[in-house]
Amino acid sequence: MKFFLDTGNLDEIKRIVRLGLVDGVTTNPSLIAKEGRQFQDVIKEITAIVPGPVSAEVVSLKGDEMIAEALEIAQWAPNVVIKLPMTEEGLYACSQLSKKGIRTNVTLIFSAAQGLMAAKAGATYISPFIGRLDDIGVDGMELISDLRTILDTYDLKSEIIAASIRHIGHVQQAALAGAHIATIPGSILPKLWAHPLTDKGIDQFLKDWESVPKAADSVK
Ligand code: E4P
Repeated sequence: MKFFLDTGNLDEIKRIVRLGLVDGVTTNPSLIAKEGRQFQDVIKEITAIVPGPVSAEVVSLKGDEMIAEALEIAQWAPNVVIKLPMTEEGLYACSQLSKKGIRTNVTLIFSAAQGLMAAKAGATYISPFIGRLDDIGVDGMELISDLRTILDTYDLKSEIIAASIRHIGHVQQAALAGAHIATIPGSILPKLWAHPLTDKGIDQFLKDWESVPKAADSVK
């Protein structure tokens, strides 16, 4: 499974890139707004740090305007992916951009039918929002698993990005349900490697190490 970071924050991205764990980044207008900086500056800086795909979202609602925005954003870096809303106009923009060889990520997917439409329109990525489905009592994991079955059955090339992840259980469940990618907030990803028993074990090892006789030229 690939890991994307779901953030516009450079510090969060640099922290995880250092570990070699970032395969890509997703942003959205809300995440960009949190940074208080120009959209173009944020995206250009992220694309320079992360070699993988970096999703940048259009804000127009009309297909032709989405395409115009997309063509501008696509100039910013070769690894930019255009994020489009799951609407009729978004599907139009998706199919047109796909014909031009521009990669797309269709976002705000809440049903298998929507995912199928986006995949047929040529989306590179489809983003079901599992946390927001959980919020209204719908099983987001069932959606991931249904989407994977549909893509595999009809040999559709889109990859599923499990989005709107709220906790580490979501990442584990999305991996089991067949998501190709999980896009994880910078506040949640570090929780995937942390465990209190690991910290306790290190403390005990270091305490015991103090009683080990040391050679004069030993570094520790
Ligand atoms: C995905 O691409 C979105 O940016 C994101 O996962 C939305 O998550 P939220 O529901 O926590 O806002």
